[in-house]
Amino acid sequence: MRNYLGRKTTILVALLATTSMAHAEDVEVLHWWTSGGEAAALNVLKDDLGTKTIGWIDMPVAGGGGEAAMTTLRARVTADDAPTAVQMLGFDIQDWAVEGKLANLDAVAAAEGWDAVVPAALQAFSKYEGSWVAAPVNVHSTNWVWANKAMLDELGIAQPNTWEEFIAALQTVKDSGKTALAHGGQAWQDATLFDGVVLAVGGIEFYKKALVDLDAEALGSDQMVEVFNRMATLRGFVDDNFSGRDWNLASAMVISGDAAFQIMGDWAKGEFVNAGKVPGTDFLCFRMPGTQGMVTFNSDQFAMFEQADAGAQTAQGEMAKAIMSPTFQSAFNVVKGSVPARTDVPNDAFDACGKQGMVELAEAAKNGTLIGSMAHGHANRAAVKNAMYDVVTAHFNGEYDAKAAAENLVNAVAAAE
Ligand code: GAL
Repeated sequence: MRNYLGRKTTILVALLATTSMAHAEDVEVLHWWTSGGEAAALNVLKDDLGTKTIGWIDMPVAGGGGEAAMTTLRARVTADDAPTAVQMLGFDIQDWAVEGKLANLDAVAAAEGWDAVVPAALQAFSKYEGSWVAAPVNVHSTNWVWANKAMLDELGIAQPNTWEEFIAALQTVKDSGKTALAHGGQAWQDATLFDGVVLAVGGIEFYKKALVDLDAEALGSDQMVEVFNRMATLRGFVDDNFSGRDWNLASAMVISGDAAFQIMGDWAKGEFVNAGKVPGTDFLCFRMPGTQGMVTFNSDQFAMFEQADAGAQTAQGEMAKAIMSPTFQSAFNVVKGSVPARTDVPNDAFDACGKQGMVELAEAAKNGTLIGSMAHGHANRAAVKNAMYDVVTAHFNGEYDAKAAAENLVNAVAAAE
């Protein structure tokens, strides 16, 4: 690893200077938070930094899941014009740290006591070779279902708790002529469904063996064939226009009552909240049936790219500090739909889904049933993730059957490793 000692000192000195003389500059932030709920959450951050005289230069790159944003980032860094701060996930942070592009945040982390309040599962991605290189703003989880309560009540559908009950509920909606499952046909969204289905079929051990340890036997197993059979079953409940649809437009279908269910990470709740909807009254939130007690997580973090300018370094330190403050972590996550990265933030301001999410995350961490989302870059590096995406989405679009999909998964992963 490059010797950051000089830089570490640089950020600390700059931070101290802020308090006395230097004026913090702007931060240029690359992110993919462009949906209604995401933009509302981002405003909480912009406003918070504004109160600290840190200006915000927005660098949005639309595209849920962040693939387009990471492509844009690569081009900016190659042109030696890295943004100040970047929204980033899991193994991507590690990959940029390996390249020596990220600033060392140890001084801010030590001053703010991050080690004591950030769970080990997150620190595994926030740190590189023992040094902090990113500030975690939240913990999202992907194995959620969102449902339109009025439609379920009208059709006499109770909240499903088992896979069989879920399929029966989807069938009842389909038989009523309505769209059962709102979905956007994009590889990362198909992979988000896949996260939950793998967990439902084989539990945490199977998920880990197949999607984290990349065990060929597990990847090609009868259990994985069952996973793909269930993906095909879910495919039977989406509408004809699903291909290419953005995730937030699928959420909008459930919000408006054009569809009953959506399987999506809890950023979807940000859309419901942004539309003024209330959990338990207008919509239901529950873990994908069969995955109760388990959580597939992904954490949005801000990585700070090396900056020569002292003012920019000051702004980076202040931004990292602001992101990790308990009050900000509450205010931001209430709007975003996620839960705080810090373990010491009270849940008072959170709604029923948020409170449930916080309890389930803590329990899963305690019980060893918390695991990184493959679809959102917390199970494996991008090359392997993308190889899995290709197989999952090709199968979801009917290019081959479940047996062939499991075989292709083994081969694709082996080729990408
Ligand atoms: C995820 C990200 C979330 C949400 C989602 C949809 O990868 O972690 O914060 O924005 O993409 O864009």
